[in-house]
Amino acid sequence: MSDAGKLPVARTYRPREQYLSLQRDSLLDPESFWAGIAGQLVWRRKWDKVLQWDPPFAQWFVGGLLNASENAVDRHVKSWRENKAAYLWEGENGDRRTITYGELYQEVNRLASVLQKLGLRKGDTVAIYLPLVPEFPIAMLACARIGLPFTVVFSGFSAKALAERIQDCGAKVVVTADGGYRRGKVLDLKTVVDDAVKDSPSVKHVVVFRRTGHVVPMIEGRDYWWHDLMAKASSYVAPVPLESTHLLYILYTSGTTGKPKGVAHSTAGYLVFAYATQEWVFDAKDDDIYWCTADIGWVTGHTYVVFAPLMHGLTSVMYEGALDYPEPDRWWDIVERYRVSILYTAPTAIRSLMRYGDKLPGQHDLDSLRLLGSVGEPINPAAWQWYFDVIGQGRCPIVDTWWQTETGGIMISPSPRLGLVPLKAGSATFPLPGIEADVVDEKGNPLPPSEKGFLVIKRPWPGMFMTLYNDSERYREVYWTRFPGFYYPGDYALRDAEGYFWLLGRADEVIKVAGHRLGTREVEDALVSHPSVAEAAVAGKPDPVKGETIVAFVTLRKVANPSNHLSEELKQHVRRMIGPIATPESIYFARLLPKTRSGKIMRRVIKAVAAGGPIGDLSTLEDGASVDEIREAIEALRVAEKSTKSS
Ligand code: WT7
Repeated sequence: MSDAGKLPVARTYRPREQYLSLQRDSLLDPESFWAGIAGQLVWRRKWDKVLQWDPPFAQWFVGGLLNASENAVDRHVKSWRENKAAYLWEGENGDRRTITYGELYQEVNRLASVLQKLGLRKGDTVAIYLPLVPEFPIAMLACARIGLPFTVVFSGFSAKALAERIQDCGAKVVVTADGGYRRGKVLDLKTVVDDAVKDSPSVKHVVVFRRTGHVVPMIEGRDYWWHDLMAKASSYVAPVPLESTHLLYILYTSGTTGKPKGVAHSTAGYLVFAYATQEWVFDAKDDDIYWCTADIGWVTGHTYVVFAPLMHGLTSVMYEGALDYPEPDRWWDIVERYRVSILYTAPTAIRSLMRYGDKLPGQHDLDSLRLLGSVGEPINPAAWQWYFDVIGQGRCPIVDTWWQTETGGIMISPSPRLGLVPLKAGSATFPLPGIEADVVDEKGNPLPPSEKGFLVIKRPWPGMFMTLYNDSERYREVYWTRFPGFYYPGDYALRDAEGYFWLLGRADEVIKVAGHRLGTREVEDALVSHPSVAEAAVAGKPDPVKGETIVAFVTLRKVANPSNHLSEELKQHVRRMIGPIATPESIYFARLLPKTRSGKIMRRVIKAVAAGGPIGDLSTLEDGASVDEIREAIEALRVAEKSTKSS
């Protein structure tokens, strides 16, 4: 599986020995190691203490004062980079804009002034619900400039999901757009916001950026057009010096209960980690054209579309729309036209593009590419190989980057900057400097090579989230109790005989659909909220493009009868409750769900039936439900599966 022999590129990078010894040294004195990197940021006051570690709570760079927007934009406008492009933006409909660092600076200042004039003060929260337009980073940076923690909600989430997030953090202002484009259609974002705000009394104002120009209702005194407010804004707002541990943003992500977790990131630790990892992993220079394809609605966009590339003064490509619209070579057209040199994307995207064949990329000049990246889920060897051969033309190393919303930045990845190790298709290779990772058994004991176990991180790192917003107990419980003293990310992993890490997917009830994280419980809750549904059990089913798709087994209330119509209705119901990404692919009507005596759904069984695979040994199922009961339930599920398929 190793492609080491094929990688002529490895010769142009520093030797792996150097990298592995740097990684070792960084762990001998991690505090001075991180302090050395922190010194490269702009500070208003230097920190007194690098790390205050009261497990499981870490505070980084205690006593320091700094500002994220100053680090991202102000530092560049005093240099030649004032006229350098920060973003080369392309709308799905072909609109194009170039935003220089100088322009970004002006817009960020003006919007910060707008937010101030709307009455917002340091510590007030803002929700951002936008399509992928340059105003997205502008909104985030304007908030950061005056100390307003923001929460970005992916524009594919429903009104209900948006309202839940707005309410949890008590957002006073929502920044949105009239709409965005997706596959040639207008997404009506403002209407979604109106629905969400109806139930969210904390919201005083809605700022609406005009993207599509379709008619949207505006509520007098509450809603304002972005351009109207900007026309009256001041051109300069001093960046507020903020404590290192000031809350920069909250990003909600799925866990194993129905309620999303508000991952709370700090200012200093997060920025230092973003800054370091951007350099180690992508090794970008001023003449690179860097394209991280993630939507800013997810953490990848926060860190590697907004904060990290801006702090480094890079030029990023930003593309609003679907990857195969209007034609399936849209991405290759963009790579060719902007001369993209670094492409960072997700396995699910690679697999969808792969399905269109080798001819399309072949029709474009992809010679500008020099480095490829992958993130979000394990990359299967076939997709890796295609990415390497067809897109990278055998020239470009692939950085498979393992990390999470919680970690703030990349944790395990090859590092072209520090010394590229020989790559293996499907392995994220080694932890970055300062990161101590291991694979352990259920008891927390390190496992010998090639045995599958649980990934743990053994010491704090600057990018780690501070806590779960308003729920420090859940923070402790979810991440720190399973393996006391270690951070538990919820992933399976193994290390091979050469010490390489292989990340093997989620070990909990979280599934990844096209790289997006969803809790099975969230989808089950949505289904059960429908009047026809008594109970629901949801599982991920392996899918050749999306990685996993959602399969749901439901039992109905007496009033309802199974039908294709009801199945369709339930899918629509989930879309409305959560958003299109959570739509089940198949819904099966069952007579019974397999449960333990204490009433817990047997997920292993559900998963196995969903995947059509063998159930395994029933006698080991927890909680002593009788083998007969379980057999009956499995039979009921299999019958349900057949009858829906044949109907
Ligand atoms: C989960 C985190 C990291 C930003 C985007 C997703 C899975 C992520 C990899 C990788 C194998 C990966 C893990 C992780 N994951 N990257 N390179 N190889 N698995 O962030 O939504 O917080 O999801 O994504 O299971 O726990 P997220």
